[in-house]
Amino acid sequence: MTPQSMRQLGAAAMDLLIERISGLGDAHAWDGEFRQALQDRLPLAPPENGRPAEEVLNQVARDVLPFAARLDHPRFFGFVPSSPTWPGVVADFLAAGFNINSCTWLVSSGTSQLELIVVDWMRGWLGYPKTAGGLLTSGGSAASVEALVAAREAAGHPQSPTIYMSDQSHGALKRAALVVGVRREHIRLIPSGDDFRIDLAELLRLIRKDRASGLVPVAVCASAGTSSTGAIDPLADMAELCAREGIWLHVDAAYGGFSLVTEAGRERLAGIDRADSVGLDAHKWFFQPYEVGALMVRNAKHLEAAFTIGNDVLQDTVWGANHPNFADRGLQLSRTARALKIWMSVQTFGMAAFRAAVQNGLDLAHRAEAYVASSPMLEPMAPVSLGILCFRVNPGGHDEAALERANRKVLAQVFWDELAFLSSTSLKGVFALRLCILNHTTTWEDVRKTLDLVVSLGEQACVGE
Ligand SMILES: Cc1ncc(COP(=O)(O)O)c(C=O)c1O
Repeated sequence: MTPQSMRQLGAAAMDLLIERISGLGDAHAWDGEFRQALQDRLPLAPPENGRPAEEVLNQVARDVLPFAARLDHPRFFGFVPSSPTWPGVVADFLAAGFNINSCTWLVSSGTSQLELIVVDWMRGWLGYPKTAGGLLTSGGSAASVEALVAAREAAGHPQSPTIYMSDQSHGALKRAALVVGVRREHIRLIPSGDDFRIDLAELLRLIRKDRASGLVPVAVCASAGTSSTGAIDPLADMAELCAREGIWLHVDAAYGGFSLVTEAGRERLAGIDRADSVGLDAHKWFFQPYEVGALMVRNAKHLEAAFTIGNDVLQDTVWGANHPNFADRGLQLSRTARALKIWMSVQTFGMAAFRAAVQNGLDLAHRAEAYVASSPMLEPMAPVSLGILCFRVNPGGHDEAALERANRKVLAQVFWDELAFLSSTSLKGVFALRLCILNHTTTWEDVRKTLDLVVSLGEQACVGE
């Protein structure tokens, strides 16, 4: 391509993005399409000859990109929303254009230095000592796999490993346990209490029972914010138990970890600094585009001990201890420059803005909880925690089956109404609506309008139940 045609295509793509992002509040929070309709729009075979780049861009803008959840819409409250900063988006574009491979110091020293800096910020937010270190990952799932590899290796790679977590833990941890070679029947899901936190007595009982039968406990996984209710396991007590028993403690803070930049978050996550490893997701509550998470390890040596593999063809890349090769800390060799987006956004807005943005989610969730508590139509289903509120329509006088039918109806109607996007969860078998408020552009008006809609749909849904 000539520089001029590159510039034209780049400018058209930028315009498209800026138009999309600045109009988000007026767009629907979700759009999608069935397979056949998309297949009809998109040619299946690769073309032998190309066509003008603007035409391709226009087709993608018309036939592909609009059919997606707008996870960054101010009224997208489903699953775990994500609302990337513009400097973060631009950073990803730069990383692709500069064609950075953040694998080794030799290949990319600039972004390796940024990764050291960003990882050190996270070390500080966690309250970890100087011995700690880590790397940026594609997300929480990769961080979980890498954490459990490190735990397994630290335990001497036993033949019959077991791993412990609560029944509220994210599926990513169960998958990670399978990846590191734990048999399905040796992944222990400890029942949680009414507060959705792990039952410590049961955890200890199972560890002892497993040891007595010749199994080797290699890791306990705690949640610093479950994705269902935002519940936080008793981190300090779990750290105490794991230290006594000599078992690796991994904290899955993919959801709640970045609340640590606020004082309220630091109080809620007290004890996290005693974990052997922590996974966090910057593409969730740190306002970055996908994919960026992090794995932090209290003693960084464990990571390199687990992942460093000599490679003849990379022998020139070994620069020594002060020049780490991030590929030696995890499962990827070729890696994009994830640190760039975090660094550029924090430099642009400053930590005060990030703190205020995280605090905004925490505060809005508490206001939403007060709304639910004072509404005769709504019932809180779990205490609000880290930006998540679980509730349901329940005006009284209905049995459980009728309530589930009514709430499913409400959820479907919210979906078709297109003002907002909500999702649901199952709380020990009970259907609940769920608001997850993380977006830095979300206002109280957005939350209130959504709850008003649920109330009015709830009135209709309960008629005849
Ligand atoms: C608590 C928790 N752990 C792990 C994950 C998996 O993270 P990722 O989707 O970044 O792989 C998620 C994703 O929502 C999560 O909420």
